[in-house]
Amino acid sequence: MGDAAATGLPDAEALAQAGLALDIDGAVATVTLDRPERRNAMTFATWRTLARIGGNLPAGVRVVVLRGAGPSFSAGIDLSMFADPGAFPAGDDLDGFIAGLQEGYTWLRRPEIVSIAAVHGHTIGAGFQLALACDIRVAADDVKFCMKEPALGLVPDLTGTKPLVEAVGLNRALELCLTARTVLADEAARLGLVEISTTRDGLDAAVAGLVERLLAVNAEAAVATKRLLLEAPGNSLAEQCAAERREQAGRLKAMAAAFQG
Ligand code: CAA
Repeated sequence: MGDAAATGLPDAEALAQAGLALDIDGAVATVTLDRPERRNAMTFATWRTLARIGGNLPAGVRVVVLRGAGPSFSAGIDLSMFADPGAFPAGDDLDGFIAGLQEGYTWLRRPEIVSIAAVHGHTIGAGFQLALACDIRVAADDVKFCMKEPALGLVPDLTGTKPLVEAVGLNRALELCLTARTVLADEAARLGLVEISTTRDGLDAAVAGLVERLLAVNAEAAVATKRLLLEAPGNSLAEQCAAERREQAGRLKAMAAAFQG
């Protein structure tokens, strides 16, 4: 990974304190939620460190894989933080505080990368939202999704509500959140929460195969296409047609320049 201080990436100590492990191998960065003894429960440090990883990824990284060590992807927020009255700022400061935590999630949508959540076992609350922040979810047959926040008197606030509604529709999102029920693998696939289903033993191989297929596609075209697809839900047809022309013009000019030079 090189000298972490020079790259801006968190060093081994910072990663360990955040319950994370990071491996960067060429075009692929793998982030492991790495507190299996706490079922990969996440702290504020986890989310701030995720944001730091996202902000300092080497330019050549095209795919980011998020995975969990041990029996679960993640049991969500570390509940011990609710026992510390000083853990949360008071009043008006909360908006900026939560915005900082959300940065641990938002970078996963950047057009320059494709993010993959490799999920298995319990994928709860903040862990479910982390999977939702990724572009593609590969799920093992033991996955158990649960949006538990409302059952704890809270709301899902780590960027998960928009992709959840986009994936399953408003009514199903309401039903899932307001009952905080658990969704198992078959139903998750049916609802569109999962793009690729596999066995628990087959999870790593399924992710590796997906990564290989993603890297086989032209890098610049991949970035432009993700940018285009991200725009689509908010655009009218006319706006999206214009966006397609803009991106294609950029691609054609780049291809012509490469051909000539
Ligand atoms: N925070 C802190 N510690 C946790 C934890 C969490 N979220 N989840 C599990 N742990 C700890 C357990 O306390 C236990 O510790 P000990 O060994 O010291 O007893 C250890 O991890 C192993 O847990 P279990 O023995 O319970 O493991 P399991 O495999 O039988 O069950 C589980 C796993 C279903 C995830 C269960 O641990 C559980 O229900 N955890 C709580 C889940 C939860 O409510 N998360 C919060 C969701 S809300 C959210 O994330 C967003 C938000 O902003 C509020």
